[in-house]
Amino acid sequence: MDKLLITGGRPLSGEVRVSGAKNAALPIMCAALLTDQPLELDNVPKLMDVRTMAKLLGLMGVQVGPQADGRLQLQAAQIKDPVAGYELVKTMRASVLVLGPLLARCGRAKVSLPGGCAIGARPVDQHVKGLQGMGAVITVEHGYMNASAKRLKGARIVMDVVTVTGTENLMLAACLAEGTTVLENAAREPEVVDLANCLKAMGARIEGAGTDVIRIEGVGSLSGAKYRVMPDRIESGTYLAATAATSGKLRLTHAAPQTLSATLEKLREAGADIAVTQDSILIEMARRPRAVSLSTAPYPGLATDMQAQFMALDCIASGTGQITETIFENRFMHALELQRLGADISIHDKTAVVKGVERLQGARVMATDLRASASLVVAGLIAQGETLIDRIYHLDRGYEGLEHKLSSLGAKIARVR
Ligand code: EPU
Repeated sequence: MDKLLITGGRPLSGEVRVSGAKNAALPIMCAALLTDQPLELDNVPKLMDVRTMAKLLGLMGVQVGPQADGRLQLQAAQIKDPVAGYELVKTMRASVLVLGPLLARCGRAKVSLPGGCAIGARPVDQHVKGLQGMGAVITVEHGYMNASAKRLKGARIVMDVVTVTGTENLMLAACLAEGTTVLENAAREPEVVDLANCLKAMGARIEGAGTDVIRIEGVGSLSGAKYRVMPDRIESGTYLAATAATSGKLRLTHAAPQTLSATLEKLREAGADIAVTQDSILIEMARRPRAVSLSTAPYPGLATDMQAQFMALDCIASGTGQITETIFENRFMHALELQRLGADISIHDKTAVVKGVERLQGARVMATDLRASASLVVAGLIAQGETLIDRIYHLDRGYEGLEHKLSSLGAKIARVR
C-alpha cells in the first residue's frame, strides 16, 4: 500500500493553484439525476471521491463522460436502477446525496445506510425526516433505506441539527416537488450556495441559500446547464496552514478568499501576514507561529475540516492552544499520531490542549481520515527528519495532486511502497 515519505524542515515557498471543491462537486454531480439533459461541469477536482460518485451514478445508468482538464459531463437520460449499494456507500458517505434526487425523479430509491465512520456516528436521520415531511415513505430493511413517493410535496422542514449534506439532499429533492419547501435551520456553507447556484442554472427556483432559511419552489422539470464548481476552501486552508507552520510564503491562485474568513482570521492571529484579492491569497509567516485557540462551528464559524491542520500548527507554536471540536465526537484521532512526532497534546473531552514544542521529530504515523491525514502532512513538513505516513488513500480522496503541489513549493515529499 502506498505511503508518503516527507523529509521535513523546509519552509514552503511559491504559488499553488487551488482545485475545485470536493464537497461542492459531489452534490452538484447528484444534481445531474434531476434532468434528462446534459450537465456540463468545469473545475471538477480529480479525486477518488469524484471517481466513486461517477461510478455510483454510472451504475444507475447515468452517462458519465471522461474527466479532462476539470471538465466532466453527466447525462441521466434514463435512470435504469435507482439504487446505491453498500459496496460504494460504505467507502463514501456522500453517496447518500443520491437519495433525494432519485426519489424526486423516479418516485423511488434504495440507498444503503452508510454505517459508522472514523470521525463519529454521523446518522442520516435528518435527511430521512425531511423527505418524510415531503411525503416520502421510508423503511429500513437489511441495511437499506427503501424510499418511495408518488410525487414529493413541498413542506416546511425545521432541521434539528445543522447538517450540510442533509440540507443539500433536501434542496435537491425539493426542486422537483409539488409546491414550496422551506428549510429552516439550514446549513449556510458555501458548498450549499454553490449547489443552489448550479440548480438555479438548471431552472430551479431557490431563494435564501447561504442563510439558515432556504425556500425552494418546485418546478415540473429541470434542464441541463453548464456550471463551474467553486474553489476548494479546505484545500486552500490546508496549504495556508502548512505555509504558516513552516514559516513560509505562498500565493494561492483560483481561490475564493471570501469563503475563508474564519481560517484567515486564525492565521493572522498566529502571526501570518495575509493579503487577498478577488481570487488569490498571499500568506507570509516571518516568525515562529503563535499558538491559537479555536472552537469548530458550522459556517461561518471555523470549519471542523480545518481543525486537525490547526492542531498541527499549534504543535510547534509558541504558547498553548486549546482546540475544541463541536461537530463530530471522535475527531481527535490525529492527536495520538501527532504525539508520535513529539507533540505535547492532552485531551479533555471535546478539547485538546496543545503546548507548543520547539520541534517535532519525524516518525512513522498512520492516517485515519482525510483531514487527519492532512494534519500529519503539515506536521511532517515541520518535523526534523523523515516522516512516513501510512494509509494515504485517505488523502487521495480529497487533495488533488498533493505531492506534486507540495514538491513545487520546495517540500521533499515522495510516494513510496
Ligand atoms: N447529523 C445528524 N443527523 C443527520 C445529519 C448529521 O445528527 O441526519 C450530525 C452529524 O453526526 C454531525 C453534524 O450533524 O455531528 C454535522 O454533520 P453534517 O451532516 O453537516 O456532515 P456531512 O454533511 O456528513 C459535510 C462534509 C464533511 C464536513 C461536514 C461538516 C461533505 C461531502 N462532507 O459532511 O467533510 O466535515 O459537512 O462541515 O460535504 C471532509 O471533507 O473531510 C468531510 C468530512
